[in-house]
Amino acid sequence: MNHLDEISDLLHVYPNFLAEEVCDEIIEYSEKRPNVFRDRSKQYVNRGIDGDVGKYYAAEISPRSLLPLWKKYFKDLKFKGFTPTEAQINKYDEGAFIPPHVDNGMAFHTVCVPLQTDSSNCLIFGDKEVYHNNININEAEKEEKIKVFKDKKGYGYHFEGMKPVHWVPPVTSKRYSLVIIF
Ligand SMILES: [Fe+2]
Repeated sequence: MNHLDEISDLLHVYPNFLAEEVCDEIIEYSEKRPNVFRDRSKQYVNRGIDGDVGKYYAAEISPRSLLPLWKKYFKDLKFKGFTPTEAQINKYDEGAFIPPHVDNGMAFHTVCVPLQTDSSNCLIFGDKEVYHNNININEAEKEEKIKVFKDKKGYGYHFEGMKPVHWVPPVTSKRYSLVIIF
């Protein structure tokens, strides 16, 4: 049984999880405030399963950080009976990536939302060897080793619990995504 078999029942897609206008506003907010982002290759490093380190920036949206965004969009958001504990804006410059990992915070549900559409960028779940051995992702998906979720603005890519291994391969254009933790 490969890892994707173990987790495929935990993965779900919610089209239009966030409205396009909300995605645009969060990007605009982020572009105006580069100082709120931390370099996650240096601070709060969440190492990959094989000890490697990603290259991306993140900003927290919570009662402690970016409160206007928290109040407007997240404080009262409901998902499967849960409200978020926090959300995170991830920012990737061209070439940035996150290696295969599991998240290190406590979560019942995690929803990842790309803030722009670009089918060459994606979030992948499944067998980490596909990443480490540089296997073509289309082939690997056909062989059911991985599940690829291409960036579609406002889509919610949901996983239950904390077990699913996931990664973002090097992006080919600047990318923003949201990670909402319930
Ligand atoms: Fe993650």
